[in-house]
Amino acid sequence: MRASEFLAGAAALLASGVSAEAYLGFNSGNTLADRSAKFKKDWVQEFTTAQNLKNAPGTFNAVRLYTNIQAYSQTSEPIEAFEAAIETDTKILLGVWASGTNTIEPEIKALQNAIKKHGKKLTDLIIGASIGSEDLYRVSVTGIKNKSGVGAGPNELVKFIGDWKKAFQGTALANVPIGHVDTWDVWVNGTNKPVIDAVDWVGVDEYPYYEDGKGNNIENSGYLFDRAFDAVEGAVGGKPVWVTETGWPYIGQTWDKAEATAKNSQFFWQEVGCRKLFGKVPTFWYTLRDSNPDNEMKFAITENLSTTPRFDLTCPATFKTTPKASGSATSTASGTGVSAPSSTESGSAGSGSGSDAEESGSAGSGSSTGSESGTATVPAESGVATGGATSVKGVSAAAVAGMTLLIGVFAML
Ligand SMILES: *[C@@H]1O[C@H](CO)[C@@H](O)[C@H](O)[C@H]1NC(C)=O
Ligand SMILES: *[C@@H]1O[C@H](CO)[C@@H](O)[C@H](O)[C@H]1NC(C)=O
Ligand SMILES: *[C@@H]1O[C@H](CO)[C@@H](O)[C@H](O)[C@H]1NC(C)=O
Repeated sequence: MRASEFLAGAAALLASGVSAEAYLGFNSGNTLADRSAKFKKDWVQEFTTAQNLKNAPGTFNAVRLYTNIQAYSQTSEPIEAFEAAIETDTKILLGVWASGTNTIEPEIKALQNAIKKHGKKLTDLIIGASIGSEDLYRVSVTGIKNKSGVGAGPNELVKFIGDWKKAFQGTALANVPIGHVDTWDVWVNGTNKPVIDAVDWVGVDEYPYYEDGKGNNIENSGYLFDRAFDAVEGAVGGKPVWVTETGWPYIGQTWDKAEATAKNSQFFWQEVGCRKLFGKVPTFWYTLRDSNPDNEMKFAITENLSTTPRFDLTCPATFKTTPKASGSATSTASGTGVSAPSSTESGSAGSGSGSDAEESGSAGSGSSTGSESGTATVPAESGVATGGATSVKGVSAAAVAGMTLLIGVFAML
């Protein structure tokens, strides 16, 4: 990092009040596995389990949401997760759905309504806001080829970020750091730089499991993770990087060399979570509770919100992913192009009923190298369902999103 970049980053940090705290949390959509809406009691259960996980290497007392709007609400009814967070003292990374719409006004309204009702009890819990989720992936070459759904471009996102800041300037949220969440390869695409410039922190979704063609066996997962993470850090000029989604499925198909087993979920937890993230980087693990019946890949670290997870969460004292091996892993993978799959859960600000999940989660694979195949459609996780408050047409894909998968190609790595 150049000194100027460092200073710019430090200044942004100070200006935005970004704290160095390495939040620990999970992702949470606004619907359950049967696509019904989650209500306050559902989130209370989630947040209570998250904070009481046996042998957890820290307290998971933060949550990443995808929208401010309660599922299927026709008006800007605030998501009931807010009330559950207040009751359980859970920190909130707000999500604003930003694709397929020309306004985030309903999202802003929903939050304003909630603040009117709860005041400081709510605003004190808010640690950040992400304007958008994988919108840039969906308008990228791979995203489009793979019918990942309606996205939004850098200019739209920058406009929405401005709208958000304007709406909350001079309020209790004025200093809440604003970010945008996207797949890692989006951040190294120079066309998206205006978004980097507009945010206080950068959110990245990273799933080595989906990185076919790159030696994505579990033993290599830590190296693949680091390589993508480092690429993002190198591209964002010193802005803090938050890991907004990562995890390894315990059930699902074998994806090239990646096997979905609980043992591998544990390995990934240790080698990526414990070694690289927990206590060091704000992290929102994927996930505590699966909510998409169509997705054959399951990620939940617990069953039925039990506080006894399906594998021991204890962090080991030493790791198998070592700097030396990292070098060799990089060189073996070089020349294949990098595919950076990612999976997300997402939401919609629009009209979607959450019914066309199939549209949203497709997995792509690196096209420009031609070296990879192994793509598959990954059914969406319906992170958000909304009732049409903004009556946006054609956003159905957004309504669902989730488990979108992406493989970007970056020979530069
Ligand atoms: C780079 O980003 C721009 C804007 O988001 C997008 O239109 C373009 O397709 C991206 N490039 C690739 C190779 O995906
Ligand atoms: C979790 O809930 C499902 C559905 O109610 C049930 O079939 C399963 O046995 C439960 N698992 C455990 C470990 O309790
Ligand atoms: C997109 O996904 C399809 C299968 O879903 C695959 O055949 C294709 O290669 C992928 N395209 C790109 C650019 O990754």
